[in-house]
Amino acid sequence: MTARINPSILSADFANFQSELARVSDADLIHVDVMDNHFVPNLTFGLPMVARLQEVTPKPLDVHLMIDDPDRWAPGYAETGAFSVTFHAEAARDAVALARRLREIGSRAGIALKPGTAVEPFLELLPEFDQVLVMTVEPGFGGQSFMPETMPKLHALRDSVSRLGLDVWLQVDGGINATTIQIAAEAGADTFVAGSSVFGAQSPSLAISTLRELAGA
Ligand code: DX5
Ligand code: ZN
Repeated sequence: MTARINPSILSADFANFQSELARVSDADLIHVDVMDNHFVPNLTFGLPMVARLQEVTPKPLDVHLMIDDPDRWAPGYAETGAFSVTFHAEAARDAVALARRLREIGSRAGIALKPGTAVEPFLELLPEFDQVLVMTVEPGFGGQSFMPETMPKLHALRDSVSRLGLDVWLQVDGGINATTIQIAAEAGADTFVAGSSVFGAQSPSLAISTLRELAGA
């Protein structure tokens, strides 16, 4: 299984995104955290910023929407050409209809689950999604500690994905570093978001290749 490493620009220097993107040119995708100060108690940036980031990097953008009312707003992010758009299950009114709309526009559709959200209702819906993001911290901030109690969700997802013969990516986000990535990989994750452990490293390239290796690529 190929491990994908997606650095999160939440931990980048917000005044210098263009040069920060150059530091992570070895990334598989660039993870972009959109926060609205309602769904989570933090605010980052919105549609014009994501559209502009897509213009200045050749890398695919992995947009993580931590916002209320994604049914209304998520399609606009797909229209910027984002590679994947992931919205939260807790915020969506009709997750399946929204995923179908995102795919129609041309993005991969992702659904994210907060640590306290059960995975079971989503297992039978897996064919509707291209990725499932299991939050391994409470969404809102970088630099928090990985929550190992979320790992049973990955086991359940990996079992269902294998049983149904699907190509759904299983992503983890929060507290991923050289120690925790192995735990998440063993539980079944194949796509790893890493903010502080990549942007906080002296050499982000080295951090990315180390993480990829530890994830068993
Ligand atoms: C948190 C964000 C994450 C965050 C991860 O709500 O969704 O993407 O940037 O940061 P680290 O890797 O530092 O936990
Ligand atoms: Zn994120």
